[in-house]
Amino acid sequence: MCGIIGCVGRGSETLDTLVHGLSKLEYRGYDSAGVAMADDTVSLCKTSGKIDDLRAALKSASLSGSVGIGHTRWSTHGPPTDGNAHPHQDCHGDVAVVHNGIIENYQSLRDELVAAGHTFTSDTDTEVIPHLIETELEAGAEPEAAVRAAIARLEGSYAVAVVIAGTEAIFAARHDSPLVLGLDDGATYLASDVPAFRDFTDKVVYLADGEFARLDASGWVVSDVDGTVVEKDVDTVEWDPEETGKSGYDHYMIKEIHEQPRALRQCLRERVDEMAGTVDLDDLGDLSPTGVQFVACGTSYHAALYGAHLFREAGIPAQAFLASEYATSVPPIGDALVIGVTQSGETADTLSALRAAEKRGARTLVVTNVVGSTAARECDHAFYIRAGPEIGVAASKTFSSQLAALNLLTLGMTQGDDTREVINALRELPGDLQRILDESSAEAVAELYQDAGAYFFIGRGLQFPVALEGALKMKEITYKHAEGFAAGELKHGPLALVTADTPVFAVVIGDDEKARKTVGNVKEVEARDAPVVAITDGQTDVHRYADHVLQIPETHPRAAAVLANAHLQLLSYHTAAKLGRNIDKPRNLAKSVTVE
Ligand code: F6R
Repeated sequence: MCGIIGCVGRGSETLDTLVHGLSKLEYRGYDSAGVAMADDTVSLCKTSGKIDDLRAALKSASLSGSVGIGHTRWSTHGPPTDGNAHPHQDCHGDVAVVHNGIIENYQSLRDELVAAGHTFTSDTDTEVIPHLIETELEAGAEPEAAVRAAIARLEGSYAVAVVIAGTEAIFAARHDSPLVLGLDDGATYLASDVPAFRDFTDKVVYLADGEFARLDASGWVVSDVDGTVVEKDVDTVEWDPEETGKSGYDHYMIKEIHEQPRALRQCLRERVDEMAGTVDLDDLGDLSPTGVQFVACGTSYHAALYGAHLFREAGIPAQAFLASEYATSVPPIGDALVIGVTQSGETADTLSALRAAEKRGARTLVVTNVVGSTAARECDHAFYIRAGPEIGVAASKTFSSQLAALNLLTLGMTQGDDTREVINALRELPGDLQRILDESSAEAVAELYQDAGAYFFIGRGLQFPVALEGALKMKEITYKHAEGFAAGELKHGPLALVTADTPVFAVVIGDDEKARKTVGNVKEVEARDAPVVAITDGQTDVHRYADHVLQIPETHPRAAAVLANAHLQLLSYHTAAKLGRNIDKPRNLAKSVTVE
């Protein structure tokens, strides 16, 4: 949801550094992009389209300066046009601003500024910011004071970076949208996310809400709203810059699908004592929840549904809520632990839900991939899934790592009879997953059904979230209609949609009553001539009713969910590839959604 970059101290490489940073942030938004640089004047280039379109536009532009800011946009206010692309400027072109978030009071500010004689050139909420700064400068304020005064008038969420003609500095502020500084010898960076500058440095400083930063040739200073300097910790990023490249794969998504065995090993590392058959959660303290409420969105919500199932199996009442719905009617929390599942740690809906819970006195924990993210800083406890950076907009390795992490959480917090069995299955999981990635026939299935009218996915119990996730992945990257259903629900309505043109993907694991009932549901769709693809460990006779089988090894049903999901990831990926879709940047989507 919009990516911001800023850099000071790279001399003649400033522009290239900005554009490189934007290319690393493109997963956050890709409908328009722009850069601005400042010396005695502010020069700027922006365009609708992707970073490559910006590169092309820059060939005929002339920008100069040793400080600069850049932006890649996912539109909220106003369509993706050249005029709505960031940076935005004041009337005289002396101020340039990039912004991520939503200014809720922009209409009243705009009305006030228009009445005072300001002319606006875009439909965006952002444009009020340079005009507010201009007003302060004209009233005689120093640049930093002018930016602070403008920021103080904003309501809503923002990460903002500003350059001003005649001031070789970048001013930045954040509230509810991420900003991180990167510290290098002689250069300082500013970005929405670390990949923007990870090629240059691994030293980072995470800004907190309400903080203000000034970056110039002498270094960086972070202060609070009153201007008091804040001592900040400098953190070291654990992952390598190569992890944000494609490593020879056609797309980030397929690279990240193949990274899953490694991601799972990282997630499990040093947390499982195989000899003792226990999981070490000492760093989280004694949580012992009497109940659990999960809040999450999208793919992470599917992981949350899985997590809630695990807690219930361990005898602890647990429910998963869509984060965007949670605050509309917060359920009684009592002594429950509220767990946010969010790979980015920045999703506005999830942050709102966690804040609503916290306001009611709940203890909060986040399961996230991003160290230093807003959720990690705001929650009482953070459990990191350690999947490494994920650039493809459609989540893949973060989902499987979330599932593994949720297993660790439940095993560490509860006493299950089958703890040892689950630990063994988790230990086998990376190897089993590797074999599926090497041997899956999902691409052949994708070839057969790439022209289908719609795709349905069914599963029961722990495999129901897998069905939902299979469908979400399919619709996100192929733009085709896909739905996931609890297998038992099919006959209560959706069966009317099932035809010979709608393949049904059924996840059937084990040979218990649940699995046998799902086989019954498969027979129902088979009787309606729908092609059936069974994702199964072969313990039932589902293959008799299936046109194709995507095989997984026999393992614990918890691990089976991760393995079945891998086949479905490959299925969606190959279908999208055959349809020629923009797999890493599907239309209308952004990786980190920082507006509600
Ligand atoms: C889909 C996907 C999204 C995210 C959702 C929440 O592939 O990635 O559905 O899961 O936008 O994002 P996080 O997990 O960052 O809170």
